Amino acid sequence: MKLPHYHEDFSHLHVNTLPCHAYFIPFGDRESALAGERRASDRYVSLNGVWRFGYYKSLNLLPEDVFADAAAPDEIPVPSVWQCRGYDGQQYTNVRYAIPFDPPRVPPMNPCGLYRRSFAWRKDACGATLCFEGVDSCFHVWLNGRYVGYSQVSHSPSEFDAAPYLCDGENQITVLVLKWCDGTYFEDQDKLRQSGIFRDVYLLRRDKACIRNFRVTAALSEGYTRANVHVSLEKDGSLPVRYALLDGENQEIAAGETAGDTLKIALDQIHLWNAEDPYLYTLLLQCGSEWIAEKVGLREVRVENNVVLVNGVPVKFKGVNRHDSDPVVGPAVDKAHMLRDLALMKQHNVNAIRTSHYPNAPEFLQLCDQYGFYVIAEADLETHGVVFLEKGVYDEANYDYLATDPQYGPVVLDRVQRSVLRDVNRPSVLIWSMGNEAGMGVNFDRALAWTKRFDPTRLTHYERASYPPKGEEINQTDLDLYSRMYPSVQEIDQFFADGKISKPYILCEYCHSMGNGPGDLEDYFQCFHRHPGHCGGFIWEWCDHAVYLGEENGRKKYGYGGDFGEYPQDGNFCMDGLVFPDRRPHTGLTEYKNVLRPARIVDGDEKTGRISLWNTLDFTNLRDAVTVVYEIRQDGQTRFRADVPQALLDIPPHEKREITLPLPADLTGDYALHITEYQKADAPFVRAGDAVGEDEIGRQHAMRLPRAQDAGEITVEETPATIILEDKGFRYTYNKATGCFDQWTAAGRDYFAHPMGFNIWRAPTDNDQFVKGAWMNCGFDHAYSRAYETSVAQTETGVTLSTDFAVVVPSMLPLVKGHLIWTVHQNGDISLSLHGERKESVPFLPRFGLRLFLQKDMDQLRYFGFGPGESYIDKHRSCFRHVYETAVRANHEDYVKPQENGSHWDCEYVRVNGEKSGVAVWGDGFSFNASPYTQEELTQKRHNYELEEADATVLCVDAQMSGVGSNSCGPMLAEVYRAPRQIDFACRFEIN
Ligand code: GAL
Ligand code: MG
Repeated sequence: MKLPHYHEDFSHLHVNTLPCHAYFIPFGDRESALAGERRASDRYVSLNGVWRFGYYKSLNLLPEDVFADAAAPDEIPVPSVWQCRGYDGQQYTNVRYAIPFDPPRVPPMNPCGLYRRSFAWRKDACGATLCFEGVDSCFHVWLNGRYVGYSQVSHSPSEFDAAPYLCDGENQITVLVLKWCDGTYFEDQDKLRQSGIFRDVYLLRRDKACIRNFRVTAALSEGYTRANVHVSLEKDGSLPVRYALLDGENQEIAAGETAGDTLKIALDQIHLWNAEDPYLYTLLLQCGSEWIAEKVGLREVRVENNVVLVNGVPVKFKGVNRHDSDPVVGPAVDKAHMLRDLALMKQHNVNAIRTSHYPNAPEFLQLCDQYGFYVIAEADLETHGVVFLEKGVYDEANYDYLATDPQYGPVVLDRVQRSVLRDVNRPSVLIWSMGNEAGMGVNFDRALAWTKRFDPTRLTHYERASYPPKGEEINQTDLDLYSRMYPSVQEIDQFFADGKISKPYILCEYCHSMGNGPGDLEDYFQCFHRHPGHCGGFIWEWCDHAVYLGEENGRKKYGYGGDFGEYPQDGNFCMDGLVFPDRRPHTGLTEYKNVLRPARIVDGDEKTGRISLWNTLDFTNLRDAVTVVYEIRQDGQTRFRADVPQALLDIPPHEKREITLPLPADLTGDYALHITEYQKADAPFVRAGDAVGEDEIGRQHAMRLPRAQDAGEITVEETPATIILEDKGFRYTYNKATGCFDQWTAAGRDYFAHPMGFNIWRAPTDNDQFVKGAWMNCGFDHAYSRAYETSVAQTETGVTLSTDFAVVVPSMLPLVKGHLIWTVHQNGDISLSLHGERKESVPFLPRFGLRLFLQKDMDQLRYFGFGPGESYIDKHRSCFRHVYETAVRANHEDYVKPQENGSHWDCEYVRVNGEKSGVAVWGDGFSFNASPYTQEELTQKRHNYELEEADATVLCVDAQMSGVGSNSCGPMLAEVYRAPRQIDFACRFEIN
């Protein structure tokens, strides 16, 4: 078989494809058109299902006769990617191209998949459109042995006129999909590289003469109370079209007929569309035997004074970047998968999505219309790998390689047009994005110009336009937003302070959610709201990408870069989402949810009950959105609880109101005033009564019961290595070399499985990956404590051990120096007071604290501090200071790549309990962590399923714990969140 050689030929991007148009599906009757389930349309012939399949390692190995049975010996489901079906290999690469850079050429060893199936067709006078919604990376198609055409652009549809090739009865379709093509150089998105027919394939029976394309726009006027809906039609000749506009309850509010190519419908008292109230009208078009139903959302987006306005209202995008990604089926995600993502987003107060970095399936955007999300629709375009071309190291000098070379202009424009033309009728799309990380230059100038001219009703976006190539004039008029990724809050503030703003500032990516983090969500939220010209941003990214590999040790095994023997690969950089691969929320998502809570206490006094509430919603009166319960929390208990009267919540969007909450008269002492916001009415994905946010002012404390004061005399016995302190109830062995205790024995029981020690190490988080090297150079992962001379003193209530100490590591000056005093009280309690100072020349410490290896049976936890989730100095917005109980095992956050996790910030108390005995720690504002795993184990292992539990409960009591930040791609951890040089610590252990 001699194949046309289109896949290495920029002059043949598509062959015999039909012109691009807005996505729609014709139906045979009004009812099914309105119901909108395309699979139920008698015009829709799905070709999904089981196909014959032949996989070839190279196009050169393809048999001569591609139609022979033997050429496709296997079976494969369509849609799918073949790497998830056991063919070829998985590969994860971020920036670097997976193939040598040699456009238009691709490797001769070009894996391919030959697909074939038969289907029934009733041949009559009808037209037939064959549609592929997504094929990676390019394909040839034959019907009944005759060549139909070729196409590429993986995430955009390709359509062919199938009528001339079809016959009555049994038909055969053959598709050859190539893994690599010249388009690969424009699809270098950071993801697993997977191939095949990964979206729906279908035939549409069309009337011979019919509507080919249509476009709906609406001009809003009179203070957004009136709309002129305008529909332009492309159809075959002057076919009559009957139309009707239905409201949200499917009541007809306008109707008519035209033989022309435009429709105009004037509406008053309109119901606007926005993400909080996604009201949709339906436009019904009837032409010949076809019915087409299109959802219409009346909304306007524009920029005024550098502010993005939706329906005249300034909005902030509370966004996420979303890839089509599933650990089992890869990008071949179905509607249920999409709905689960959208449900989780709604449940976490997210209102915007960037379809990074390609168009999603057309149905996805319809769901965004329906459920209310603002969308940045991005073209299938990224050429990031060009930064590696010359030296094999990241070098931005080459960034504009493909953007500035006019020979690639048509490629760029094709990709942008395919994205825009398909989704032009989607009200949820507010912004067109030209792509991601593809350099800047004339090719993008032209794409922006085309987009703005074609669709002036939306905004344009392209992040790389913020880095114009030297000496080139950037087309600023056709670009509506100033877009950036990962600047620090300080840099954004500086930008505004310098008056540099000339377009709304948007973060198309920020708060890199890799592993334990992000730690800066609240800081960015505050920043967005400091600057009216900032329209918010999109978290990178929604989900962890990984490959499901079965189960081991009771855990799901997820594979990431490097697990498949591939080259190049980028390790676990694909696991940087707010949800695990299976969509369990990470603590970062819980944090984001509460940062985005509808109502915030911005000021207040828990003593008087007077608080100022801020309604952060854009369109909804708080009274209509939530109900609020407030409670008084004192001594770890709820002392009082009541509903906030709904009338007090009459707060218009964006506004703040002072309200006074009646409090019981007998309150004394310190307490917290805590509010919980609940969804008021059932809505899609969120039920009335679901908690949507929490807030708190005031500070409560842990309740401390008086301890028995034993007056027994403590005997002290000193050896060269130890000091043993003994009473009738206990025996404690102090180690003169470490300044710590080797053993606590009480009531005849040894508490420690191993001696206690000072610890400055934490298993590096993904966000520690850049500071980790400096930490390790300084031996932080090998550091230990030494004591100098310990002096012993008997006091009236006990014995004190006092010594200078240092934290040391081979080859270096001491890392930390200080003085500590242990006091063993007559009742058996032990307290520590310590002052230390980190050496100035070494980096900030991951943490500073004590590490206890408690007997394994002590595996239950009770604590007073920020919980119930893991919490850090910069990541605690969904946590509150209160009493929590959990198990040590449950306290472990099981990141796929093990790392520091499960710490609790600002604690006053923690008790680790076994059946017979336990240890409690009291202090003021310490962090603690109790885990079945050691820091060493969490540092070493690549996957959670490889983790082995220690023979002890590892309890870290930390005077300091550095924040987590988002440095895996974002700015360095802010100074204020790093463990400070001065260390002051006091705590008291109760052993019983
Ligand atoms: C950005 C890029 C994303 C992703 C992220 C790192 O630069 O646009 O696609 O690679 O970095 O996770
Ligand atoms: Mg990239």
